[in-house]
Amino acid sequence: MDYYSKIAEGYNELHKREQLDKIKTIFKNVYISNEETTLDVGCGTALYAYLFRNYKGIDPSKGMLEQSNSDVRLGKAEEIPFEDSTFDNVISISAIHNFNDYKKGVEEMERVSKKKVVITLLKKAKKFEEIKEHLKDYREVDHPIDAIFIKNVK
Ligand SMILES: C[S@@+](CC[C@H](N)C(=O)[O-])C[C@H]1O[C@@H](n2cnc3c(N)ncnc32)[C@H](O)[C@@H]1O
Repeated sequence: MDYYSKIAEGYNELHKREQLDKIKTIFKNVYISNEETTLDVGCGTALYAYLFRNYKGIDPSKGMLEQSNSDVRLGKAEEIPFEDSTFDNVISISAIHNFNDYKKGVEEMERVSKKKVVITLLKKAKKFEEIKEHLKDYREVDHPIDAIFIKNVK
């Protein structure tokens, strides 16, 4: 069983408040219309689904997805199971440090997005500096726990 499936049952209780604070900071800095479609990559329990009218999530952890009753499916960032430019926006919150290949993950998120990609990166992640360098053409917004990276892709 993957690590996140093991902690899935208690995830929302432990992390919901902190995670929702990150999405609040994103909404203060990026305009995302209710009419637009959004894919959440590494969605976990899909904490943010209720904020979007047209939301889908993917995550490789069955256990995390089982805690959600939103439109979610199994999938990983490195191989997003959707055609090019399927979504207006792609978000990925505190997940990129878990990707086996974050460069491929970023390429894939940009591939399926028509408008914006928003990625947040835990400041305490071991590869923080390396991943931040890879996202140098993104606009950076600060948050106490994560750095937030925003790009208009097309
Ligand atoms: C800290 S949790 C964040 C979950 C959610 N984004 C949130 O903010 O509550 C990290 C998530 O990344 C997922 N993850 C791990 N490897 C991944 C990959 N290769 N592609 C996409 N998501 C991945 C985990 O399964 C886990 O649900």
